[in-house]
Amino acid sequence: MNEKIRELARETRISKGSLVYPLFVEEGTGIRKEIKAMPGQLRYSPDTLPYALEDIAKAGVKNVMIFGIPKEKDECGSGAYCEHGIAQEALRAAKKAVPELYYIGDVCMCEYTSHGHCGIIKGDSVDNDKTLPLLAKTAVSQAAAGADMVAPSDMMDGRVAAIREALDEAGYIDTPIMSYAAKYASAFYGPFREAAGSDNFKGNRKTYQMDWHNRREAMKEVFGDLSEGADIVMVKPALAYLDIIREVRDHVNVPVAAYSVSGEYAMIKAAAAAGMIDELSIVAETATAIYRAGADIMITYYAKEIAAMIDEGRIG
Ligand code: PBG
Repeated sequence: MNEKIRELARETRISKGSLVYPLFVEEGTGIRKEIKAMPGQLRYSPDTLPYALEDIAKAGVKNVMIFGIPKEKDECGSGAYCEHGIAQEALRAAKKAVPELYYIGDVCMCEYTSHGHCGIIKGDSVDNDKTLPLLAKTAVSQAAAGADMVAPSDMMDGRVAAIREALDEAGYIDTPIMSYAAKYASAFYGPFREAAGSDNFKGNRKTYQMDWHNRREAMKEVFGDLSEGADIVMVKPALAYLDIIREVRDHVNVPVAAYSVSGEYAMIKAAAAAGMIDELSIVAETATAIYRAGADIMITYYAKEIAAMIDEGRIG
């Protein structure tokens, strides 16, 4: 009886429809390459991607986010906004093979620039305003390739407005923008750098990502992005930022997404591999905490496992 009333009276519920699975796609064919810093996660090429997508759909996960990794990088990240860039090719292949999934394109320059920054460089710093038209072009080219939504992760000021205007002009008036609004300059992105091929990056992103001592600044970023037309706002990372998720949830009327990033995934994997914790119990508890903090949407490398636990009635 106790079990039944606990389920009836539960305060936090998680649904499979709110999960987003991030995927990395590189140029080439026949690729299924393990990402060492993220055990269990692979890099695909556009031809192998559909198999992964079928698996994801079978698990009941409905949304994926695509990160492209180009072969060639250059100063101005031209692979990001090229019609036949890797993200665009991946999106086209994915939409054709598994059209029932919802596709979110990551919009950023860091995977495409030779210096690894999220924008164009002038002297030793990122030139915010010169980067905006390139981000807008990237978003439009992804929408043209089939992205259902775009998610700018660069943190340049004014990019949501620039992207909204460019999408509207190109006729993509129904393509929503999920902005990485409160994105902190975090060490939790460490494993992602290998996944996204920017592990030779020597600098830091502190001039455009947020200082993790700050909470009020998160609201300033969120309100700024909303006034520029963001449809969904994101907090990133998730687990060490539950207070920020709650703060944002309490102050906005749009959906709030939380990105449980590569370092959060890698820490659980490593501790589980060392026999120190029970992996799925930790995943269940941390995922629930992120929703309890106020997330409506969770982006997570554990999306399939969480979906399975929802099916089993273990969470949700
Ligand atoms: C930047 C970007 C990063 C992540 C997503 N988009 C890395 C960064 O800002 O340095 C991190 C995601 C993760 O760690 O899982 N384009």
